[in-house]
Amino acid sequence: LNYLTPKTRREILELLVNGLKRLEYRGYDSAGVALDSPDGKDMAIVKKSGKVKALEDEIFSKEKTLDFDSSTDCHVGIAHTRWATHGVPSEINSHPQRSDVNHSFVVVHNGIVTNYKDVKLFLEKKGFHFESDTDTEVIAKLVLHLYTQHPTYSFRELVEQVIQQLEGAFALCFKSKHFPGECVATRRGSPLLVGIKAKTRLATDHVPILYSKDAEAQNPDHRPHGRGEIPILPRSDSTAEFQPLEDKEVEYFFASDASAVIEHTNRVIFLEDDDVAAVKEGSLSIHRLRRTLDESHSREIITLKMEIQQIMKGNYSYFMQKEIFEQPESVVNTMRGRLNFETGSVVLGGIKDYIPEIRRCRRLMLIGCGTSYHSAIATRQLLEELTELPVMVELASDFLDRNTPVFRDDVCFFISQSGETADTLMALRYCKNRGALIVGITNTVGSSICRESHCGVHINAGPEIGVASTKAYTSQFISLVLFALVLSEDRISLQSRRAEIIKGLENLQEQIREVLKLDDEVLALAKDLYQHKSLLIMGRGFNFATCLEGALKVKELTYMHSEGIMAGELKHGPLALVDKNMPVLMIIMRDPVYVKCMNAVQQVTAREGRPIVICEKGDTETQSYAFKSLEIPRTVDCLQGILTVIPMQLLSYHIAVLRGCNVDCPRNLAKSVTVE
Ligand code: G6P
Repeated sequence: LNYLTPKTRREILELLVNGLKRLEYRGYDSAGVALDSPDGKDMAIVKKSGKVKALEDEIFSKEKTLDFDSSTDCHVGIAHTRWATHGVPSEINSHPQRSDVNHSFVVVHNGIVTNYKDVKLFLEKKGFHFESDTDTEVIAKLVLHLYTQHPTYSFRELVEQVIQQLEGAFALCFKSKHFPGECVATRRGSPLLVGIKAKTRLATDHVPILYSKDAEAQNPDHRPHGRGEIPILPRSDSTAEFQPLEDKEVEYFFASDASAVIEHTNRVIFLEDDDVAAVKEGSLSIHRLRRTLDESHSREIITLKMEIQQIMKGNYSYFMQKEIFEQPESVVNTMRGRLNFETGSVVLGGIKDYIPEIRRCRRLMLIGCGTSYHSAIATRQLLEELTELPVMVELASDFLDRNTPVFRDDVCFFISQSGETADTLMALRYCKNRGALIVGITNTVGSSICRESHCGVHINAGPEIGVASTKAYTSQFISLVLFALVLSEDRISLQSRRAEIIKGLENLQEQIREVLKLDDEVLALAKDLYQHKSLLIMGRGFNFATCLEGALKVKELTYMHSEGIMAGELKHGPLALVDKNMPVLMIIMRDPVYVKCMNAVQQVTAREGRPIVICEKGDTETQSYAFKSLEIPRTVDCLQGILTVIPMQLLSYHIAVLRGCNVDCPRNLAKSVTVE
């Protein structure tokens, strides 16, 4: 939303499309924009299935009709890139969704409205006809319905009425022909922030929340639908608008995450669930219908440290490639200011006040999804060893399905790169409700998981854009190792083990650089493998997590079947898959399970399998059993997984490129899955 300087429509569209490109990793099966038509009387909507590039081409082919060169000093444009939940990817299902052919109201939505069928039925009875298969369309139509019933309501009041009828998760941004120059945005369960770009210094760093006049009196339980009328709820106080700036020369941006706005401003407000933010005549106001006892009565304007260069591809072909090669730096950033290599002291500022409580706990639970879950598997053994506590590792979805018993003296870790994964967030709330201590391990400052945790660790890996997680994994791994070191600080019997690990961490950067030099060798291997249908990856002990994570990378990026196999289980089934044609990759380090791994490699060669072995540098004995091998430097057993996973990241990357797959945006996946 621009009130800063007049902009041409070309500039507005470029701004929107560039913002979408930065968010594309969140979903990319279709995209769309809406902005005022040149005469200001209608709205222009352009939608396209496929990637943002397709939308961009479509927009720029309409240069004349969209009247690129006319300029405006106050405008609202909204744009969206979609990851389908209801309805196949298509133009009609992409957003913005509209209320009617006159474009009275349009909306973009991230999330799922779970009661959309009821609302749809209700609206159909009122004579609305639906054009898409989306849950989002009900929102656009519901706001029009309420507008026709209550023409005196403000735009923001209408949106407040709408969200009270919705169940599920959403971040929404509305634009209306009836309210030119205004935009209203709100969230529940899905992330949303407001970026503020001002010419002059902001007059305040807090935005006060405006409540409904009779906020306490409201009944939250009033959702309809399908039957009867929608009850009309009290209107909230609309008098005191917040004006953050002395001269009002300001641009506002609403976005799902900061990468979309960071090139314009680093000043942002993270909205909370059920906040309704409205921009009107250059002023931003944040409203809530209900007041709860423990909430803060303002929203802080935070200055982000993220730099635009951090989210640019630089000389790399893909973000994923860049992120793999950033690992020598990102692992150091995770340890920076926390680990003193000389004294061996480890301080995790975000949890230090909770350490006595954590030491008294009954057990540790590590919960996450996808790659984040693998980082928990990778560090479980070390956590058990150094904390001497029982450690449970759980997939968030399964953990919830099982209604797993959780107690007040449990400490639950929620590991998530984005800090927004719906399954993980639901599991967090489940544990919090049962009184457990909640520790967040995330890469995204201000994310929902950060905000809802009691304490936590930011892994500080820097923005990760490639959908397949790489540097976040190694940084999550290190964060959990640091936690294990903190808890074992005063155990005399563990001091030599700690010292060995700290030494290992100190050398990690150099060793990662060494592993990355294998890139050409890994490419050669990828050329041997990329036409195969399947790839088995075996290992055990500290390297089992690398097998799971390696197989996930291969699946995600190359669409090839791949399985991470616990080498101890080989004889209980997977061995039946092995013959001379089946590619088998084995991780065999000189650690406590070395002999057992050697048994496995021989079981494979005895079935004419031709194992590709990842082993320690200079280990010619192990290599003599291998069809091919990759040598990597040796580190402490419990850190070895950080070095063994990198060849797997590179291998999946190269196979994906060779197979012509889109490395940064694998089909059907999204980086941040904010739906259950
Ligand atoms: C999605 C991504 C995965 C990721 C998982 C967990 O499924 O495609 O790459 O590992 O979510 O994400 P999180 O942000 O919670 O770590």
